[in-house]
Amino acid sequence: MGKQRVLSGVQPTGNLHLGNYLGAIRNWVDRQHEYENYFCVVDLHAITVPHDPTTLANDTYAIAALYLACGIELDDSHIFIQSHISAHSELTWLLNCITPVNWLQGMIQFKEKAVKQGENVGTGLLDYPVLMAADILLYDADKVPVGEDQKQHIELTRDIAIRINHQFGNPDSPILKLPDPLIQKSGARVMSLTDGTSKMSKSDPSEMSRINLLDPPDAIAKKIKRCKTDPVRGLEFDNPDRPECHNLLTLYQLLSGKTKEAVQSECGDMGWGQFKPLLTETAIAALKPIQDKYNDIQSDRAYLESVLRQGRENAEAIANATLDRVKSAMGFSKPL
Ligand code: TYM
Repeated sequence: MGKQRVLSGVQPTGNLHLGNYLGAIRNWVDRQHEYENYFCVVDLHAITVPHDPTTLANDTYAIAALYLACGIELDDSHIFIQSHISAHSELTWLLNCITPVNWLQGMIQFKEKAVKQGENVGTGLLDYPVLMAADILLYDADKVPVGEDQKQHIELTRDIAIRINHQFGNPDSPILKLPDPLIQKSGARVMSLTDGTSKMSKSDPSEMSRINLLDPPDAIAKKIKRCKTDPVRGLEFDNPDRPECHNLLTLYQLLSGKTKEAVQSECGDMGWGQFKPLLTETAIAALKPIQDKYNDIQSDRAYLESVLRQGRENAEAIANATLDRVKSAMGFSKPL
C-alpha cells in the first residue's frame, strides 16, 4: 500500500507567526516522511479580505520560501501556489452549487471575520471554506494537518464530500475521499502574548501580540519582556485562571523540545523575572536556523521558482484528474 496523502496550506497574509509554525508547519515537517505531501500557499484565500495587489506575489513567494526554511524536504513533498492551478477555482464553483448557504453562515471563522468587516462583507469571505474544501478534495487527501481553529472547516469539507458522493456517486465507488484533520495536542492553539484568552493571529492590530518567524532577536526580546503575565508566584500548566502562564510555558516547551513534565519541574518555582529571559533565549535560538535558511533561499529566486514549477506540475496532474471525475459524475459534456 502506498503512503497516505497529506494536503495543507497557509495564507500569504502578512508574516507567519509562532501559531502558524507550532500549530501547523512544524507538524508538517515532523511527519513529512510518513506521508506523500502537498503543501500549497493559498493566495486565493488571501483576497477574501482587502489585500494589497503590489505585495501579494512577493508575500506568496515568501511563504513558499518559509516552508523550505522550516524544513520541508522535497523527497516526499510538493510545494505549489494555489492560484497556479485553476482546478481549485473550478471545483469551488461545482461545490458551491451543492453547498447550502446556511452551512457557511454558521462557520465560526466567518462570523468572527465578518464582524470585523462590518456592512461590507465580501461573498469570498463567506465562500472561503468551500475553496478550502476544494483544495483538500482535489488531492484525495487522507489527512489535513492544521491548528485547532480549522477543525470546523475540515468537518464542512467532509460534509460537502458526502453530499457530492450521495447525489452523484454510488456507494461502491465514492467520487471524493473524506479527509481527517490532524491536530496536535500542544501548539494547536497558541494564544496572544497580550491576552492569553485570545488566539495569536495575523489580523490582531497589535504587533506585540505575536512573535513572527522572521522577527529579529531584539524584537523577540521586546515582545516577551512586555508580554502579559500575572502576579502569582511559581509557574504552572493547565490552570484555567492563568491562561498566559499556560501559554508561555507551552511556547517554552515546544520551542525547547522538552517534555511538559521536564518544563514543569524546571520552571515550577521560577518567577517571571527568571522565566522571561529563558523563553527569550530559547525562542531566538529556535528561530535562528529558520531565518538563516530563509535568507539563503530568498537570495536564489531561480531555485525557488524551480521548486514551485515542479510542485505545480505534480499537483496539477492529480487536481485535474479529480476535477474531471467530479464533472463527469455531475453530467458535464466533455470538451471537444
Ligand atoms: P492560516 O494562514 O490562517 O493559518 C495557517 C495554519 O496556522 C494555523 N494557526 C494556528 N495554530 C495554532 N495557534 C494559532 N494561534 C494559529 N493561528 C493559525 C491554522 O490552523 C492553519 O493550520 N484556512 C487555512 C488555510 C487553508 C488550508 C487549506 C489549510 C486554505 N486551504 C487546505 C489546510 C488545507 C488557514 O486558516 O490559514
